[in-house]
Amino acid sequence: MITQNTIQQILSRIDIVEIVGSFVKLKKRGTNYIGLCPFHNEKSPSFTVSASKEIYKCFGCGRSGNSIGFLMEAEKYSYAEALRWLAAKYNVEIEETETSPEYKQQQQVAESLYIINNFAQKFFSNALLNTDEGQDIALSYLKERGFREETIKKFQLGFNPEARDSFTKAALAAQYSQEYLQKSGSVNVREGNAYDNYRGRIIFPIHNQSGKVLGFGARIIKSNDKAPKYINTPENEIYVKSKLLYGSYFARQAIDKADECLLVEGYTDVVSLHQAGIENVVASGGTSLTPDQLRLIKKYTNNLTIIYDGDNAGIKAALRGLDLALEESLNVKLVLIPDKEDPDSYVNKVGATAFADFIANNKRDVILFQLDIALKDAGSDSNKKSIIVNQIAETIAKINKAEDFTKQQDYIKKCSEILKIEESGLHVLVNKFIREKITKAENQQIRDDHFAAENAAANATDTIDSEVLGLFNKDEMHERAMVRSLLEFGTKNWDDEQKVATYIFKEIELNQLDELIDNKELVKILHTYKAWCNEGIEPTAKNFLYHDNLQMSSLVVSIMDFNYEISPKWKEHFEGHLPTREDLFKEEVFSTLNYLKLKKIKRLIDENQRDLEKSTVSEEQMIFIQTHQHLKQMEIELTKILGTVIFK
Ligand code: GTP
Ligand code: MN
Repeated sequence: MITQNTIQQILSRIDIVEIVGSFVKLKKRGTNYIGLCPFHNEKSPSFTVSASKEIYKCFGCGRSGNSIGFLMEAEKYSYAEALRWLAAKYNVEIEETETSPEYKQQQQVAESLYIINNFAQKFFSNALLNTDEGQDIALSYLKERGFREETIKKFQLGFNPEARDSFTKAALAAQYSQEYLQKSGSVNVREGNAYDNYRGRIIFPIHNQSGKVLGFGARIIKSNDKAPKYINTPENEIYVKSKLLYGSYFARQAIDKADECLLVEGYTDVVSLHQAGIENVVASGGTSLTPDQLRLIKKYTNNLTIIYDGDNAGIKAALRGLDLALEESLNVKLVLIPDKEDPDSYVNKVGATAFADFIANNKRDVILFQLDIALKDAGSDSNKKSIIVNQIAETIAKINKAEDFTKQQDYIKKCSEILKIEESGLHVLVNKFIREKITKAENQQIRDDHFAAENAAANATDTIDSEVLGLFNKDEMHERAMVRSLLEFGTKNWDDEQKVATYIFKEIELNQLDELIDNKELVKILHTYKAWCNEGIEPTAKNFLYHDNLQMSSLVVSIMDFNYEISPKWKEHFEGHLPTREDLFKEEVFSTLNYLKLKKIKRLIDENQRDLEKSTVSEEQMIFIQTHQHLKQMEIELTKILGTVIFK
């Protein structure tokens, strides 16, 4: 864990305009900066950055956040990765809190492997580009296949020379330990002798999301029946095959922009398509997709297009992981490359434009495709056909999220047409599978109950979604407005004796917050604010913006307001000074507080009314009626104040 002290140092140096500016071209407009949103395609800029509030917001797609959130969104970093990126940028030395020895050990191994891989990648690149052997054997081969030098450099392709131990020797001479070299996979050890694992092969470095080298794929140059075409890094602390997708580092922004991820089989397919300008592409390495890989894709987009060669046995393997994709609401399409070509050879044959057109025009629905092949396999065997009906019903049942309901209905219709069966029959079957799944899930739930605490954190994001919906709720608007005025004006003077924050906390008693404010996250912000005050800190929105409780920080981002600029023309016409929220802060604080009080009174009136209806004792009823009158009076007065309040 990065220490709080380090985080504070990083935060004190953050400049959101500079950070966002290294990804987006920003222009100053008034007090804000604007540019083209990096998260969706747009022609006129609606992406706005406020330097003073240290937040960004896109008025087109609605995404918003702080500097750290921006890095997490744009680069798909975790919170810690974003902090590390910022620490490196602003030269802050990272202090870590004490962690368990096992974790430390693992971190240290991982760190060593990254360092060795970095050294190895440079060695292999140099061998490819700057040695006679590399140029003659490997570079010429790559060029013959149509790879340009800039592409080779971008993907950091390399070459491991033929000699038994040229890399091993260089690495040992550079003081890397033989044990770690072996773990990294670039060196093998047999009977105490160390030698190069990838000798005589072209090297494809495999990068993680932030561009560090996890391992390598090494392709043989001359075809050889005895040796495998590709050798990969063995699994170790950092190379975990099921969690990586080749090319994701180079594709991440293009996938985000295109809102589509193309999936191919091979390394060369990725590199060639990239060279042709199709950059939203990753490779799975020819195996079926794992849950971790699907999750990786889902971070960027919900649209997955699998591009495979038509008569490849790999298709079935690739499709195997797809039920999971459907459950995750991914839209999966399939494009088959014709004529025994693969994406690499096909794009070289027909050119970039024709290739892109082919992909766009030949997307097939993956479920209907599966049904197609299965039916062809089955021929006229009616036994096999009924198995297919069952299978397809089970697959359709997996599309089971509320938002996918129409999609599911659509499949039932289309599949029953293809199968020539009654639509209602397929419906019944699909429902049966859904019920089975729910029962299974419930049983699982009982088993999982003691893990609930850990999952609570993961579910936090769901609450944010429902909160966005809740925004349409008027009460919540008032609650947010009140917290916003505290965050923005809390440190100003209310009168000669007290700050705005002190006044607010006098007006709303902490132990009554739950009654006053429905959104428990907002209540949490108020409690945190008060706790900071008690520690002698004068909190502002910024303290919350960078709170490591991400739920809290994103809520604060969402309630903060951008300074809308008044158009200069309008200003010309306006005589004298135009009041801003800043000028009217007392009125704002006063009225937001009163709205909450009003709400509370309304609630008390309702409760009292209910009690009155239940009551059968006339003395009791009398009291309820008096209470009602009293509350009504308060309501009227408050409403009056709210309508007329003017502060000087
Ligand atoms: P080229 O033949 O150079 O165009 O490479 P390719 O990427 O098109 O190879 P291919 O279509 O044969 O295989 C697709 C992917 O499967 C490769 O990129 C590798 O990731 C993987 N693969 C292929 N052959 C082997 C092998 O022998 N061993 C391992 N571990 N992986 C392989
Ligand atoms: Mn190929």
